[in-house]
Amino acid sequence: MKSNLILIGFMGSGKSTVGKLLAKSLEMNFFDTDLEIEKEQNLAIKDIFTNYGEAYFRDLEKKMSIKLSKVSNAVISTGGGIILNDENIKNLKYDGVVFFLDVNRRTLYNRLINDTDRPLLSGDELWAKINSVLDSRIDKYRSSSDFIIKVKDEIPYETTEDIKRIYIERG
Ligand code: S3P
Repeated sequence: MKSNLILIGFMGSGKSTVGKLLAKSLEMNFFDTDLEIEKEQNLAIKDIFTNYGEAYFRDLEKKMSIKLSKVSNAVISTGGGIILNDENIKNLKYDGVVFFLDVNRRTLYNRLINDTDRPLLSGDELWAKINSVLDSRIDKYRSSSDFIIKVKDEIPYETTEDIKRIYIERG
């Protein structure tokens, strides 16, 4: 049976928060692809984008998906763009079950409105940006996942419990 629990979803969908709660509750290791990249490069994600561009970041993200395909018994939260490369999902699925945190757009907007760390959403027109990026990705989030978790509210505990139950009961 696959041992890792992978969380995918749009920026602001709660992957890191829920991932940490899951790891604690299931007594598993926790990794976050963005945090691992930041540690490795000693640079914040937004600075990697500014200094080297998005393509460079996507390459680091791809390498990180290969690295993390080799860990076991871990909860892995991913950057929102991990689904842009099918190879990333293939790597993470090698020993992982993928959960898509499906959050409604208005909630994403409210969570992201004061954010300054996401280069893809910086500047004006946040609502339009969320819609256009999500429209272009939604099919990929769905098709990349083994399970889709409808996130009902602002409380991460319920989402955590839903995922935990499915992860434990999976065949
Ligand atoms: C990105 C999401 C970010 C980060 C980078 C690009 C994306 O991670 O990897 O800014 O393309 O959706 P979060 O989903 O944790 O915000």
